[in-house]
Amino acid sequence: MWGGRFGTGPDAAMREINASIGVDKRLWREDLAGSRAHVTMLGATGILDAGDVTAILAGLATIETEFAAGGLVEDPALEDIHMHVETRLAQLIGPAAGRLHTARSRNDQVATDFRLWVRGACAEADAGLKALVLALLDRAGEHAATIMPGFTHLQVAQPVTLGHHLMAYVEMLGRDRSRFADAATRMNLSPLGSAALAGTGFAIDRFATAAALGFAGPTRNSLDSVSDRDFALDYLSAAAMAGLHLSRLAEEIIIWASQPFGFVTLPDAWSTGSSIMPQKRNPDAAELVRAKAGALLGGFQTLAVIMKGLPLAYSKDMQDDKAVVFAAHDTLALCLTAMTGMMESLTFNADRMRAAAASGFSTATDLADWLVREAQVPFRQAHDITGRAVKAAEARGVTLDGLSDAELAAIDARITPAVRSVLSVDASVASRTSFGGTAPDNVRAAIAAARDML
Ligand code: ARG
Repeated sequence: MWGGRFGTGPDAAMREINASIGVDKRLWREDLAGSRAHVTMLGATGILDAGDVTAILAGLATIETEFAAGGLVEDPALEDIHMHVETRLAQLIGPAAGRLHTARSRNDQVATDFRLWVRGACAEADAGLKALVLALLDRAGEHAATIMPGFTHLQVAQPVTLGHHLMAYVEMLGRDRSRFADAATRMNLSPLGSAALAGTGFAIDRFATAAALGFAGPTRNSLDSVSDRDFALDYLSAAAMAGLHLSRLAEEIIIWASQPFGFVTLPDAWSTGSSIMPQKRNPDAAELVRAKAGALLGGFQTLAVIMKGLPLAYSKDMQDDKAVVFAAHDTLALCLTAMTGMMESLTFNADRMRAAAASGFSTATDLADWLVREAQVPFRQAHDITGRAVKAAEARGVTLDGLSDAELAAIDARITPAVRSVLSVDASVASRTSFGGTAPDNVRAAIAAARDML
């Protein structure tokens, strides 16, 4: 392919470090699509004659059939997917194959192929995220009024509804979807026709190839076109953020499944046992989602570091972009599938959640708020009075509601028996009706709004 000016062939290790076919073979569909668009345009502009175009298109169609049937034969001497396609084309149609590369370089070719692939990966990530969102919406709907403890510092803070807690992840995943959508829109310009770096002297039609490949138009600067891997970094950054969110959800499932919590039980299909402890039911899938989020976060870092020192235009360093992106894609897809499966099938133990929600004096804020509302006590003073009530209850080993009327009045005369209406966890969550608050009706409205936006 470039042997003309060389005397001897490459060292074996040179060949090994240079070859990318083991990784970039995944681009074969995109490579064929790009070649088809390119050669069709070369025909339409009169750069190639119709006979060559027809022969090349027929050859590409044969290759598509062969590769789809698993017929791609890897040869490290052919370096990458682009040379594999071109070499096979030459075997099929003879010297006319050599005309396909007119007004094109592997530099704009790979940039085009990879953009097409990453654009598809954005759509795939969106579909995976949407499936998880749907599972969360279903479970949130079942548990719009199920009470659980809300935490700060992992200490019981205030009662919330499980539906509200799950809807917090719907918000995060919705932002993740918009990040992939933004990335897909931003990358949707075609580098094809930028050639090696400077553009070409052939009278090509970059608008035609862009349209044929479903791009909004051609990229505007040939140097940028072959050097830019922002689009891959945008994808990796969106994947890293999604991984971070999945990891937080995974962490919660792990905590909730532990015996002291007992908030959830994972079904057999999403649990693993221990080879020594017969009683064990471990949340390995959630733990591995938590672990794999690390690789997703590292993926962005890896490619950013590959790119950060590269002068314009193309350098071979950029060939290593694909392994990072493919790995992130596979990891994200698996994590989303696992998380959706767990979310759809785990059992929420409402009794355990409710009991935990009532622990830790979780309605103390409600008592303070009641004093402000009903007795016009300044909040800071109400906070202090409530703190003394908590201290008294703690000393007696009872909940706030377990203190007698006399005990409450002894702490502050303004605490009357009417306060009991706000001391229960049900009253507490029902009162949180501010927009975005945890009250069951709010949760139902949030679920309906989220479904509308899907
Ligand atoms: N395989 C290369 C890559 O993935 C594309 C080829 C560009 N090669 C070159 N020598 N300019 O980046």
